[in-house]
Amino acid sequence: MLAPRRIILAALAIAFFLLSANYSWRRMSHRPNWTSSLSDRRARLWETLRSLLEQYAPDGPQPTLRGGVGLPRFNAISETARENHIANADEIRLPMQVAHDGFVQAIRDLNVDRAYIPGTVGIVSSAGGSYLPTFMVSLLLLRQTGSDLPVELFMKDSSEYEPHVCEVILPPLGVKCVVLSEILAGQDDAHPIEGFQIKSFAMLFSSFEKFLWLDADCVPLHNPAALLRSEPFISTGLVTWPDFWANTAAPVYFDISRQPAPPSTTRQATEAGILLLSKETHFLTLLLAVYYNYYGPEYYYPLLGQGAPGAGDKDTFLHAATALNNKLYSVSEAVVDLGNVTPWNPDTAVNAGYIQTDPIQDYNLTSHGKWRVQNSTVSKPPRAFFVHAGDPEFNPGKSLLGDKLRGFDGQPTRLWTHPPKAMERIGYDVERKFWEATMQVACTMELAFETWKSKTGLCDDVQAHWKAVFENPEKGAPNSTAG
Ligand SMILES: *[C@@H]1O[C@H](CO)[C@@H](O)[C@H](O)[C@H]1NC(C)=O
Ligand SMILES: *[C@@H]1O[C@H](CO)[C@@H](O)[C@H](O)[C@H]1NC(C)=O
Ligand SMILES: *[C@@H]1O[C@H](CO)[C@@H](O)[C@H](O)[C@H]1NC(C)=O
Repeated sequence: MLAPRRIILAALAIAFFLLSANYSWRRMSHRPNWTSSLSDRRARLWETLRSLLEQYAPDGPQPTLRGGVGLPRFNAISETARENHIANADEIRLPMQVAHDGFVQAIRDLNVDRAYIPGTVGIVSSAGGSYLPTFMVSLLLLRQTGSDLPVELFMKDSSEYEPHVCEVILPPLGVKCVVLSEILAGQDDAHPIEGFQIKSFAMLFSSFEKFLWLDADCVPLHNPAALLRSEPFISTGLVTWPDFWANTAAPVYFDISRQPAPPSTTRQATEAGILLLSKETHFLTLLLAVYYNYYGPEYYYPLLGQGAPGAGDKDTFLHAATALNNKLYSVSEAVVDLGNVTPWNPDTAVNAGYIQTDPIQDYNLTSHGKWRVQNSTVSKPPRAFFVHAGDPEFNPGKSLLGDKLRGFDGQPTRLWTHPPKAMERIGYDVERKFWEATMQVACTMELAFETWKSKTGLCDDVQAHWKAVFENPEKGAPNSTAG
C-alpha cells in the first residue's frame, strides 16, 4: 500500500511546485517593485561592465582580412591546417593579448551582483520590427509543445517596442518584453549595440539563471524543458549546436586568448540560433562573450570567422568558454538542410531552413563513443529537436509566399519535403503546424504589428496557400511524416 501513497504524495508535491512556480512568476511580474529592483541590479552590473569594456578595449590596429576561408565544410575525419587570412597578425597579437588578459583577469576578480534571479529557468529571445510576427508564429508553436517556460523578449530600443503587442498580446502567452537600451543607459552612440551584438547582452541581462536561447525563427519540436534538466546540460552548463562549416578562427586568436587551437576535426563552427546556458557556471563565459561582441565588428568577428558564412556572434560563446577553460557540450550530429526539390536538382533540398538535433540523444551516442560524424553507420540518427525556419521566415509580411513555395508546375507547394531521412527524424507533419500557426497570426493579429500596417491581404494569402496545399487531397504529407 506504500507505493500508491508515495505516488499520491509525489503528485501533490509536483502540483504544489507547479502552482507555486507559476504563482511566484506571476506575483513577481506584477509586483511593482520587482521590476525596479531588478532594473537597479541590472544598472549596477552594466555600469561595472561598461567601465571594464572601456578599460580593456583592444588597443592598436584592427585585424585586416586578406582573402577569406571560403566555404569550408566541416570534416570530422581528415584534418586540415588552420588557415590564416589576417594580414597584420603580427601587429595585433601583442596589443590584443594584453587587453584580453586584462579583461579576463578583471572578470575573474569581479565581485558584482550578477543581476539574475537564482533558481529561475526560462527562454530568451530577441525580435523587433519585421522579426516580431516571425517570433509570434514561433511562440505559438513553442506553446503547442506544452512548454510553459516564461519567455523574455529583448528589443533593441524603444523604437522596437510595440505597446499593443508587448502589453496586450504577449503577457497572456507568458512573454515579457525588455528594452535593452533602457538597461544600457549612457551607452555612447559611437558604439551602438545592434544586430548580432544584441544577443549576448540579452542573455546577460535576462533575469533567468538557466535559459534556452532561441532566435525568433527557431522552433522546438518538443517541449524543451527537459533539455534544461538533463545531460549534457546539467554537468556542463553550456550546450551549442553546429553549423555546416569548420571552425575557422584565425591562429592569432588562439595566441591572443592563450588557448590551444583545436584540430579542425574536433567540432563544427557554432550555429548560435539555439543555445543552452547556465549563469551559475557560465557567467564569466557570458561576460567574455559580451566583450567579443562589443568589439565584434571591428576586432573579434573577423578574427573568429575570417570571412566564413554567417560571421558574427555565432562562435563568440564557444570560444569564450574554452578561453576560460569552462566545460561545454557542442552537439555533434550535423545540421541538415530542409527544403523541397526542383526539376533541375531532384535529389537535393533547396535550402529553406534546417533541423538541429536532440542534445540528450546526441550525448547518449557520443558519451558511448559513437560519433556519427565520423561513421554514420554506428547508429541511427538522433531525433530532430529544432527547426530553424529562416529562409524564408514564417512571416507572410516578408517573403514567405515567394518562389520556394511554387512547385515544378508553378503551383503552390510544400516547403519542406526533403531529404526523406530528415523528414523521418522530425516524425510528424511539422509544416502543417507551421502553417496553422502562421494562419492564426495572420488572421487574428493582422493589425497588430507595426511592420504589417502597410500590408493588405496577408490573411487571405495565407489561407489561399493553406487551401491549395493542405486541404488538397492530391498533395499529401511527405511519406515519412504522414502519421
Ligand atoms: C519599493 O516600494 C517602496 C514602497 O512602495 C518604496 O519606498 C521603495 O523605494 C521601492 N523600492 C525601489 C527599489 O523602487
Ligand atoms: C541511450 O541509448 C540506449 C541504447 O544505446 C537506449 O537504450 C536509451 O534509451 C538511450 N537513452 C536516451 C535518454 O535516449
Ligand atoms: C563504421 O561502423 C560500422 C558499424 O559499427 C563498422 O562495421 C565499420 O567498420 C565502420 N567503418 C569505418 C570506416 O570505421
